[in-house]
Amino acid sequence: MKTLPYADAISKLEIDNFKQILFEMPKKTYIFSVTKTGFRKRVKANDLVEVNTEHNKTKKYLLNEGDDVPIMQELGIFTKENKIVASMYDKFKQINRFVEIIDDEFKTSNLKEITILDFGAGKSYLTFLIYHYFVNIKKIKAKIIGYDIKKDVVENCNRLAKKYGYDGLEFIVSDVKKDKLFEGKIDMVVSLHACDTATDYALNFAIKNKAKYIFSVPCCQHEINLSIKRGGDFDVLLTDGLIKERFSALLTDSIRAEILRSCGYSVDVIEFVDFAHSPKNIMLRCKLTNQQKNIENVKNLIKKYNFSQKLYDLVKNN
Ligand SMILES: C[S@@+](CC[C@H](N)C(=O)[O-])C[C@H]1O[C@@H](n2cnc3c(N)ncnc32)[C@H](O)[C@@H]1O
Repeated sequence: MKTLPYADAISKLEIDNFKQILFEMPKKTYIFSVTKTGFRKRVKANDLVEVNTEHNKTKKYLLNEGDDVPIMQELGIFTKENKIVASMYDKFKQINRFVEIIDDEFKTSNLKEITILDFGAGKSYLTFLIYHYFVNIKKIKAKIIGYDIKKDVVENCNRLAKKYGYDGLEFIVSDVKKDKLFEGKIDMVVSLHACDTATDYALNFAIKNKAKYIFSVPCCQHEINLSIKRGGDFDVLLTDGLIKERFSALLTDSIRAEILRSCGYSVDVIEFVDFAHSPKNIMLRCKLTNQQKNIENVKNLIKKYNFSQKLYDLVKNN
């Protein structure tokens, strides 16, 4: 339910073609109905004591328009007046939601320190917000490293971290598929749209180092699409290119989830933002519980359809 000004309500009536609409104005209630001839007319008006606008409250995010977080201006998410830059609205939604999901895990936590690695950090909107969340909001000492293969992007992120005094935040130029990464205790691995198998390397690094938390939103899952062969009942999904591509992407993330379960993680596969804010909107939310699941099903599928899956190969060789 939503309370609207009169003019907006009228236009809503036109647009949505409602059969009947109740207008609750400060002093009057109006009911409009559609007649047989298609016209809408007011059929009733009476005095109204009080209008309840409770349900019109705007949603409070972790990062809200108007919040004074200067790094968000510098990154181009906010204007100088701390308004959301229109073209960055989807990114704003993505990083906000991502950190809200992290927050669900840490609401009641009395953790004092945390170490987090971000794989494929890119311009690092998310990395900076995670740092802001732990250090400025939760008052938890955080060491966060963002890895990316692009030197100029990493240099700029380090410049910003220094400029804003984000002491525990560091960015390193690395190819996460082959370079030596952080050695030490890791609490959390995150990745947001790390390209194709870069996600598998992030997941495997977390598994190998027994990171307690993984939050990973995969992207462009090409590997299975390029390697899968016809082999059984699923062949019907491999005939048309578009369907094959989408099926392969879903199969990739299902297999990743199963492998993580086989390595002792509880895994929730969730939609982290609405499709409108990113078509790549599946998140693997994982927590180490040390309860291992058997993955004969995955082995059988790989054998039958003869495809490659990087996380499967990496874990086998750990
Ligand atoms: C789509 S961007 C996502 C950036 C950021 N996480 C975000 O969501 O805004 C993917 C990033 O992964 C980086 N990347 C891809 N392959 C990589 C690799 N092998 N090692 C490190 N970074 C990689 C790219 O340079 C790019 O910045």
